[in-house]
Amino acid sequence: MAKVAVLGFGTVGSGVYEIIRDKSFIKTAGEEIDVKYLLDIRDFDNDEIKPYLTKDFNDIINDDEITVVAEVMGGLHPAYEFTKQLLQKGVSVVTSNKELVATYGPELLELAKENNALYMFEASVGGGIPVIRPMTICTKANDIKKIAGILNGTTNYILNEMFAKGKDFESALSDAQAKGYAEKNPAADVEGHDACRKLAILSSMAWGRFVDYNKIPTEGICNITLEDVKYAEAQNCVIKLIGYADVDAEGKIYASVSPMLVSKDMIISSVCDVFNAVSVTGDSLGEAMFYGRGAGKLPTASAVVADIIDCVRHSDSKPHNIEWEVTDEDIMQNYECKKHTYFVRCADTKENIKKYFDNAEFVEIKDNELGFTAADIAENEFRAALENVNSPIAVFKRL
Ligand code: HSE
Repeated sequence: MAKVAVLGFGTVGSGVYEIIRDKSFIKTAGEEIDVKYLLDIRDFDNDEIKPYLTKDFNDIINDDEITVVAEVMGGLHPAYEFTKQLLQKGVSVVTSNKELVATYGPELLELAKENNALYMFEASVGGGIPVIRPMTICTKANDIKKIAGILNGTTNYILNEMFAKGKDFESALSDAQAKGYAEKNPAADVEGHDACRKLAILSSMAWGRFVDYNKIPTEGICNITLEDVKYAEAQNCVIKLIGYADVDAEGKIYASVSPMLVSKDMIISSVCDVFNAVSVTGDSLGEAMFYGRGAGKLPTASAVVADIIDCVRHSDSKPHNIEWEVTDEDIMQNYECKKHTYFVRCADTKENIKKYFDNAEFVEIKDNELGFTAADIAENEFRAALENVNSPIAVFKRL
């Protein structure tokens, strides 16, 4: 019988507890799995869980029966200190905490290796969608060329409500909060930071070099209006918060998170509600897409429990498949030189716009305003030319 502890009895932690309580894992893990501790500083009026509750991490770190711990408390501290202590003791840790993985991933992976433990984080990207393991194992024969994904369920829900039901941003956000999708602080979702950390993890997986999320240009969805929605519809597009990354011939990485116009002809445009999708393109594989519930109690807990099962199954020999090289070398492309196709809303004339964007194509759906597309232009050249355009209202890149 493998004894595990769960750090944090919130949405995901309670899901982990319930899945382990309700299922037998003898066939998959080789032995039964049992929750021995639930760590949380809050009080719970629930007789069923009382025997497992503790507020003291020392109960867990000092109990040699505990071989795997699920850290689902979120945030950097004390999750980092707890994880470090556990790995140093040789206890495997699984987590849904993307902030921790994106910040301290290389150190914690190294610590796990040194101490013959595992540090696993399937649930940190895409909630319940299997994507970390496929990227660790199944795509290894490939040079990964590109990643493009909807990595945040809350913002996808909000944007979908705006397109499908004509709700404005504020009321769609309130709905998302009422449904429990948004992070405690919705800024992490709506300003794109959550998607940015997930993209940093995926990029590190894809190219084996630690991508610092602070170096990923990130823009959220707070300023998107129902007018933007109309312009997108007029171009047979939707707007999605897209995490995009690729690599150039020198191995330098480009990554960004921004709301993008996505043609309705692309599969990713039809990813609705709280669902996520990650498209990975490899040189041999071509494009593969991973799709499913990117947030929520049981989907996320299912990925956490899968990692627990893997840790129990590999209690003797630990497969350390993930190597993230940390280097002083600048591994990122100069994002200012990256070419994109842009869509701009502005209050200017076609004549003036044509002076600076000679290949501009226009979209006209409102009086006193123009939309135009500028194809395949470097970010710095685009920004310089845009200085000459009167009253830009909104700018989007196109996927
Ligand atoms: N708030 C996150 C989301 C939860 O909406 O995707 C899962 O990371």
